[in-house]
Amino acid sequence: IREDPQAVSVYIAEYIVSRIKAFKPTETQPFVLGLPTGSSPEIIYKILVQRHRAGEISFKNVVTFNMDEYVGLPRDHPESYHSFMYKHFFSHVDIPPQNINILDGEAPDLAAECAAFDARIARYGGIELFLGGVGPDGHIAFNEPGSSLASRTRVKTLAYDTIIANSRFFDNDVNKVPRMAMTVGIQTIMDAREVVIVATGAHKAFAVQKGLEDGVNHMWTLSALQLHPHPLIVCDRDATLEL
Ligand code: GLP
Repeated sequence: IREDPQAVSVYIAEYIVSRIKAFKPTETQPFVLGLPTGSSPEIIYKILVQRHRAGEISFKNVVTFNMDEYVGLPRDHPESYHSFMYKHFFSHVDIPPQNINILDGEAPDLAAECAAFDARIARYGGIELFLGGVGPDGHIAFNEPGSSLASRTRVKTLAYDTIIANSRFFDNDVNKVPRMAMTVGIQTIMDAREVVIVATGAHKAFAVQKGLEDGVNHMWTLSALQLHPHPLIVCDRDATLEL
């Protein structure tokens, strides 16, 4: 628990930097990092970019997998997760373009796109560190309430709560929010060797309480992490109000 979103972000950014630095990459084994979008990770990306510009961290030997993407949004749509990632992170660091993996929301065969994504993760020997956020309804990535805890990357219909929450990025118009997304599954996240979740703000307090203090269940998919051998949930004070 840290005081505020800034302190949470500093903590997580330093944590990621230290993990990448401690890792000894080889030609065939880069550091494999799972990444989220959303308002919560924005400051984390800002700090990582600052650290990179200061010459303190390189992403040359890092391969990234983004956890989700809206179905039907072109890559260059300003609210696609592809655009978000380039705007906040990829355009400002030295990661080779071929190391970036983001699901294509316009792929002609969505199921094949998801299967290929899982296969690429497997080819790298799995994800080393998965950074994620949490939705107010307790979802991780887009694993909405009711998601199978054994799920892998697939298409999900968004919960109406999520559509409302994300309408802030679409002129506050729920009709503009895509109805479906592709997302890594709970099992994809559980297979990562380490999972770090950022949760800030009072609107996340209920999800944090349900995810941490209730039993493991598919309605609050954050709760799956109770079974993970190496999870870390970094909260600000507001996000702990219901604990
Ligand atoms: C979206 C994303 C999630 C993210 C969540 C919370 O639904 N698919 O990966 O964790 O929003 O985002 P925010 O940090 O903006 O509250």
